[in-house]
Amino acid sequence: MTVDLRTRYLGLDLRSPIVASASPLTGEEDGAARLEDAGAAAIVLPSLFEEEILAEELQLDRALDAGTEQFAEALDYFPDYASFAGVGDRYLELLRRIKARASVPVVASLNATTIGGWVRYATLMQEAGADALEVNLYRLAADPRRTAAELEAIDLELVGAVRSAVTIPLAVKLSPYYTALAGFAGRVTSLGVDGLVLFNRFYQPDLDLDTLDVVPRVELSGPAELRLPMRWIAILRPQLPASVSLAATSGVQTGTDVVKAVMVGADVAMTTSALLRHGPEHVRTIENGLRSWMEEHEYTSVTQLRGSANQAAVTDPSAFERANYMNVLHSWATPDRRLP
Ligand SMILES: Cc1cc2nc3c(=O)[nH]c(=O)nc-3n(C[C@H](O)[C@H](O)[C@H](O)COP(=O)(O)O)c2cc1C
Repeated sequence: MTVDLRTRYLGLDLRSPIVASASPLTGEEDGAARLEDAGAAAIVLPSLFEEEILAEELQLDRALDAGTEQFAEALDYFPDYASFAGVGDRYLELLRRIKARASVPVVASLNATTIGGWVRYATLMQEAGADALEVNLYRLAADPRRTAAELEAIDLELVGAVRSAVTIPLAVKLSPYYTALAGFAGRVTSLGVDGLVLFNRFYQPDLDLDTLDVVPRVELSGPAELRLPMRWIAILRPQLPASVSLAATSGVQTGTDVVKAVMVGADVAMTTSALLRHGPEHVRTIENGLRSWMEEHEYTSVTQLRGSANQAAVTDPSAFERANYMNVLHSWATPDRRLP
């Protein structure tokens, strides 16, 4: 039996639902080429961060000011731009190079928290050949003076600004920490966004007890982390227009993880940790796992698989919601669970 793995994401035709999400692997020409060779259906570049663009602009401003102070002829004096060709230009150059080699769609990524001049990079990414853009909203609501509604309004304004800046498909990568996620997801998509990527993984800093420094720690994900995006994709799929794509990210490590993500309604399953652990060629292992599972269970296409277990399709829709909380906790206290 042959299985048809093709899917559509953000209006793009993909050879399979397995996408390499943003990571250091996708930020190297060689890594991106190996991912494509192993079968990755699309490649999402690492994010260009608002802070990086702001730092670069600040550096340029300072350098120009320094010139003004020191030389009478300063107005004619312009520093060699190449020395300031910083992170933004390098990003665009990398995007152009990866795009020139790739035959699969290449998605550029921007990470931002406030609306600002960085939005122009969305246009520059489009001009550099990005097939789509992912905007990565990564915010910690730590300011006690800001309400959820205010922060959501900022995010919506930001997404709206990027939407107006580009004509290529736009996806928004959300965190799971919105107070009323279903309502927020609906408002984001009503801005003309083509897809949601669920979820951003927040990396928690750790405390080094020797130096008492707060240290950043990136832990790779485990398979249990797929449960969070799975639940929300199952809930959101029936609520959002069919034209809005959904991508699952977090915990996708194997072919059966892709099966689960697609069954609850994802159009694609994105993976990073598994690829950093096992190398880009692991994409092929994931695809083989997906194919074997589908053959064994007599599914002929990803289209047939998609959404067969979302909230509208399962016999107990509350299973994806809190109503299930009590049952989950009680399930621990079965007779075969004994205290050590
Ligand atoms: C080292 C590393 C770098 C990452 N860089 C980015 C990034 O630049 N932009 C982004 O949106 N996500 C980034 N991510 C998040 C991944 O794209 C992905 O969403 C997350 O790791 C969850 O997927 P996984 O469980 O398959 O790893 C990064 C993840 C890792 C581990």
